[in-house]
Amino acid sequence: AIYTMVNQDTCISCGACGASAPDLFDYNEEGLSYFIGDNNLGNTPIDEDLIDDLEDAIDGCPTDSIKMSKEAFNGDPSKAD
Ligand code: F3S
Repeated sequence: AIYTMVNQDTCISCGACGASAPDLFDYNEEGLSYFIGDNNLGNTPIDEDLIDDLEDAIDGCPTDSIKMSKEAFNGDPSKAD
């Protein structure tokens, strides 16, 4: 399974990820991106149909804030592969 979450400590609210992957990422009241699936905990595997969108979002994020892993994150973006 593939997991994702956003490192909100480095997100600069650029808005690219929500455009690339609107089913995966949305923005909170502060404009910071979060993974929709489980409110950015990163413990819910993403649908395989959305992996291409995820890769586009990762490639498009100017601050490398979108994380991907084969393991659940438990809210810790440093667990990225
Ligand atoms: Fe933030 Fe990167 Fe998205 S800066 S808004 S996580 S593209």
